[in-house]
This record gives sequence, C-alpha cells and structure tokens, in this order.
Amino acid sequence: MMRKAEKDKFPEGFLWGSATASFQVEGAAREDGRGESIWDRFCRTPGKGAGGHTGDVACDHYHRWPQDIVLMKELGMRAYRLSTAWPRVIPTGGGPINKAGLDFYDRLIDGLLKVDIIPYVTLFHWDLPQAIQDKGGWMSREAVVPAFTEYAQAVVKRLGDRVKNWMTHNEIPCFIGKSLDEGKHAPGLHVSRKELNNAYHNAFLTHGIAVRAVRQFARKDSEVGLVNNPFVSVPVLETPEYIEAAHKAFARENAQIHEPIFNGAYADWWLEEQGADRPDIREGDLELISSPTDFIGINVYFGAFTGPSAEPKGYRILPFPAGNPRMDLNWLKPVPQSVYWCAKSYREVYGIKKSYISENGTACDDTLDADGRIVDTDRVQWIRYHVKEAQRAAREGLGLAGFFQWSLLDNFEWSEGYFKRFGIVYVDYETQKRIPKESARVYSQIIRDNAV
Ligand code: NOJ
Repeated sequence: MMRKAEKDKFPEGFLWGSATASFQVEGAAREDGRGESIWDRFCRTPGKGAGGHTGDVACDHYHRWPQDIVLMKELGMRAYRLSTAWPRVIPTGGGPINKAGLDFYDRLIDGLLKVDIIPYVTLFHWDLPQAIQDKGGWMSREAVVPAFTEYAQAVVKRLGDRVKNWMTHNEIPCFIGKSLDEGKHAPGLHVSRKELNNAYHNAFLTHGIAVRAVRQFARKDSEVGLVNNPFVSVPVLETPEYIEAAHKAFARENAQIHEPIFNGAYADWWLEEQGADRPDIREGDLELISSPTDFIGINVYFGAFTGPSAEPKGYRILPFPAGNPRMDLNWLKPVPQSVYWCAKSYREVYGIKKSYISENGTACDDTLDADGRIVDTDRVQWIRYHVKEAQRAAREGLGLAGFFQWSLLDNFEWSEGYFKRFGIVYVDYETQKRIPKESARVYSQIIRDNAV
C-alpha cells in the first residue's frame, strides 16, 4: 500500500465518525411506549410527507444497532453521532419518563463504548412530541421550555456517566424556519414573523437549558455544544478584501442565531429591523442562551460565493450560475471550500476554539449494479474534495477536531422520504440489508490513513 505523504495527513487524533438521527433511522415507532412525534403526524397528513413514507420502520436501527455497530467498526469509525428521541423518553412531551425508551439508548451507548466508538449525543434532532405541538410547540414558551428541561435532564442523568460529548439542538434554522415559516418540514406551518422570532428565542433558551443540564448532571469532563448549519460565505478570491467581505456576510446573515448565543445579545440593527415583531425577551434569558459551550458542531453542505461591495453592508452574495453542477438535490451544489470557510469563520469572527464538522455528505442517485455493488464515484469525489478542505482547516490550526460523514446509512430524508439516499452504506428497505458503497471503502481508507 502506498504510504501517504506528510502533506496529506490530518493532525494526530483527528476524530473520524459518521452521523444519524433518531427519527431517520430508528423505526420501532410504536414500540416500548414511544409517543407520537410531529414527524409521525406530518408523514400521515395527505399532501405533506413524500410518497406516504413514514418513520415506522426506517432502517430498523432500533433492533439492528448491534449489526450497525459492527459495520461502523469494520469501516474504522472512531465516533458515532446519534440523537435521542424526545417522544421515546417522555412520550407526552412533559410528564412521566418512559424507562424502556431510555433503556434503548443505554444499550446503544454501552454497545458503542464496548468497541471503543465514542458516542456524540444530540438531544434534539427534530422529533418534537406531538403533544407539545398541540400546546403550541416551539412558539409557546410555556409548552416547550419546562418540558424540554425535564427531557434534557432525564437523558443527561441517565447517560451522562458514560457519554462525554453532547450536542444540544441540531440545526435551529431548519426545525424553526423550514418547519414554521416555509412549511416544508413538520409541523408544516406558516406562522407570523413575531411567532417565528419567539420560536427561535425558545429554541435558544432550550439550547442554554441543555448546556446547563450537561454541566450539572453529566460527568465532569463532558463537553457540550450547539450543532448549527450556518450560512457559509466563501470568498471567491482568497484575498484580504474578499475574506473581509465573506466574514462580514457570515456575521450578518447568521446574526439572529449567533449574536444571542455567542455574544449574549441580539444585534441592535437586527432588533430594529424586527420592530414590533422582535421576540419577547425576559430578564436572564440572554445569560441562559449564551451559557458558555466547548465547541460548535457545523453541518455544512454548501456555501455561497461572496465578494466585496460598496453597499453599506460591505458584501455581495453571488448567485449560482444556471448551469452550476449539482448532486441529487437542487440545493446540493458542490462548494468544497465551504468546509474550510465555516471552520475559519467561526474561529475568526467569533473566536470559537474548537469545532467539528458534525455533518457533511451528499445525496446521490445510487443504483445497484449487476454485481450487487453501488459504485458511487460521484459521492467518492464529493468526499475527497470536502475532506481535503477539512484537512486544510485542521492543519492550519483553526481548531477543527473531527469530521462526521452524513450519513452512515441511507435513511429517511425528511420531506424527501426514502427517495433520496445520503448513506455511505446502502439500505435495501425491503430486506434491511446493508451494503457498503464504494464511498464507504474510500472513507474507510481515509480514516485508516488519517490522510486524504
Ligand atoms: C441536515 C440534517 O441534520 C439531517 O437530518 C439531514 O438528513 C441532512 N441535513 C441532509 O439533508
């Protein structure tokens, strides 16, 4: 085997893993007392979910996790990012804890630790209990904040003796914006701007609550952070002028989330823009929201090319040309440098010391060939180019500590149902057979070499 050159290496100890999320892989939707989530309801609402697909079986990870761990081990994964399902733990959102639900995560965590795979646990990856939605969901502070506190504490108390790495919320812009503004994700609403800003604010509050739950109830060497999918601005030219413009865009376009969480205050210009629609802020909120964290998890799938501008905001976002290449979804336009620039922007704009790429990957139109293989050379290319940019960030000392491939398995892709495949392992949904794709072999080799 050819030895990798020093220049291709990642720093020693760089963490390699893959990620999934509860609703997307677990299945077992009515087992062991799990309650209904907003996604169960959405999938069953005519005209909402794709193709009538549901999360009832998904990848049956609830039962097949032992084999899935063997698979991860074979691929050389050192970490697994998973999420706990709130409706499994507290089926009615707030109220009695479902011991059987927590037992599942207990088994899964022990199974991972037994073979030295480090669990990274996300507390909320979109499966809100329907009972909370019925009381107003993220828009209602009274409905969501106390119930989330109970839930987060229950999970952390149960798993926090073994789990050291915690992630609070996954992609607030999606489970608020896509769900309550655009209506594309469960519960599929179009609420007013005031309600939307309050929903964001409640998500920020519960992020702070999750951070505090980890500090209070998990082992003392635990680390915790948010997983965000920021708007990533990519300077077309890597010159000081373009980089400054890109940093300005990063700060401004992400201000609603970043300012309260990292700076402890909404930006004045942002509050002014909202006028009467500004969120209802109570005393102590911003202190809770900006509770110090240890890292940022970045989900990055694309970036926006940016250039300088004479306009007061100082930057210009460039549209993609009509013929720009794309993967198997329109928004998946390959911009590998986005991996480097998101890590660099968090470091340079917000001074964040440690980051992970908590998700990167692509949907491809995978097909089984005559030999029963999936030769996904398109995903192979995607992985090589994106991982290369992670290497650039890691080697430049930007604090990038690890990379999680989205996803280990093909799974339930939200509003696309099972039509879109993001896995490096193919799932035959008829038989639940797992077939590693060519990209799995490539990713595995990258892990073994710690180089690309
Ligand atoms: C981000 C989300 O966290 C994940 O659930 C989703 O499947 C991927 N993006 C791909 O769209």
